[in-house]
Amino acid sequence: MIREHQTTPFPDQKPGTSGLRKKVRVFSQPNYAENFVQSVFDVIEGKQGATLVIGGDGRFLNREVIQVAIRIAAAAGFARIVVGRGGILSTPAASNLIRLRRALGGLILSASHNPGGPEEDFGIKYNIANGGPAPEKITDAIYARTRAIDVWRAVDAADIDLDTDGETQVGDATVEIVDPVADYAALMERLFDFPAIRAAKLTMAFDAMSAVTGPYAHEILENCLSFAPGTVRNGTPLPDFGGHHPDPNLVHARALYDLMMGPDAPDVGAASDGDGDRNLIIGRARFVTPSDSLAMLAANAHLAPGYKDGLKGIARSMPTSAAADRVAERLGIPAYETPTGWKFFGNLLDAGLATICGEESAGTGSDHVREKDGLWAVLLWLNILAATGKSVDQLARDHWATYGRNYYARHDYEGVESDRADALMAELRGRLATLPGARFGDLTVETADDFAYTDPTDGSVSEHQGVRILFAGSSRIVFRLSGTGTSGATLRVYLERYEAERVDEDTTAMLGQIAAAADEIAGIVRHTGRDHPDVVT
Ligand code: G6P
Ligand code: ZN
Repeated sequence: MIREHQTTPFPDQKPGTSGLRKKVRVFSQPNYAENFVQSVFDVIEGKQGATLVIGGDGRFLNREVIQVAIRIAAAAGFARIVVGRGGILSTPAASNLIRLRRALGGLILSASHNPGGPEEDFGIKYNIANGGPAPEKITDAIYARTRAIDVWRAVDAADIDLDTDGETQVGDATVEIVDPVADYAALMERLFDFPAIRAAKLTMAFDAMSAVTGPYAHEILENCLSFAPGTVRNGTPLPDFGGHHPDPNLVHARALYDLMMGPDAPDVGAASDGDGDRNLIIGRARFVTPSDSLAMLAANAHLAPGYKDGLKGIARSMPTSAAADRVAERLGIPAYETPTGWKFFGNLLDAGLATICGEESAGTGSDHVREKDGLWAVLLWLNILAATGKSVDQLARDHWATYGRNYYARHDYEGVESDRADALMAELRGRLATLPGARFGDLTVETADDFAYTDPTDGSVSEHQGVRILFAGSSRIVFRLSGTGTSGATLRVYLERYEAERVDEDTTAMLGQIAAAADEIAGIVRHTGRDHPDVVT
């Protein structure tokens, strides 16, 4: 039986860069999750008889929202609802499952790298049939629907057992609980040379950050690839991620960083975030920036069986350094520069224009799914190290000797009052026309603009995607406001300096002048009242 529940709209259900993210206490309001899930289903077409995938990163509220979503999906006409056992599916595994099962789409329950727990964050994201995040056209329609919704419908049924594989009927829908790891592990085994990785006998520390990648890493790294037991740390998904930020950067994965800089460092240190789509790669005494990682993976991807025929193109988000562009140039393949947000890569991948994509925000991936993929990046690194016999450090040095080095850092100012952050950006945008030719120390501004992107596959235009200040000699500053925060605004300032010859210098020292110019140009201290960033990555 399907029951109708009267409701009223919530004004704040606008999906951000990556779905709807709010505090758990916001999501816990009666009708809040229900309204959003119903709005998704009200907007998408073709539900009758279709398959839907549901899973999440295991954070607080995951199981409760899955139960609700199953009942609403069953009432909406889906014939089959595929759910990861225990409510678990990493974002890339969900993307894979959507594609594999030819599903209409999937609901991924996660707030990615944001902390979890009763006082922290929850999120819901809808992915479409190609396995990628819904494009703006759909998320805008979902938002419009949330503003008008007055009823949600659910099959009147009890909670189902999420922990046992098999099928259950909920109304007219069959709910299928599946192993969250098996299909994903099989895909990785097809892409990478597992015997070569095994034979290389590398040592590694993988920090799953008490988040979703634990079960995947245990199976793939320790069981399939024979890394020593204990290689995977914090490998059990916890609803509050052990009270930590499941964000694999130098601040939140500090213990891993310290290990890798110390005398007992294994060959490779790696970590992934809450929902398993981000990655951090650290060699012995060598941190690899995500921008460099993209370039190095692209330059060597042909060493892995899944990419032996070469790459069709390389795509990066605008704030990501231009290191990958130099690789594309040498390979004679196109380089694409998109706005921040993985969804912009989907069209390029679907059209066969690009094979590998990456972002400065620790996301790298390829056309094997339509999301970025943390473990995939780790496995491609392992495959390349095994095939070349090089250490991470050696590979990085050789890369810079060939291509030059893009020194790079991101400065984040978190929890800034929205009005002040908006004022900073508005003032900056107002000044753009006056900047070309201006000098800041030794730096001369060549061009300054507000990045706009025209999608080469459908001609859609996305404007105001971040302010770019380009200096003579390829140094660059980018300013943008984060699209993923849940309170206040985060100002991100991306600093980059290219050097063809001087490739072994200290990053902070190399970027000092550019950082000073950033403050002078944007008035960061004046607007935010902060004299230093909260996070430097
Ligand atoms: C999410 C998206 C990424 C994007 C990142 C940017 O992780 O999946 O594609 O790069 O957010 O976040 P920001 O906070 O800079 O908007
Ligand atoms: Zn994530």
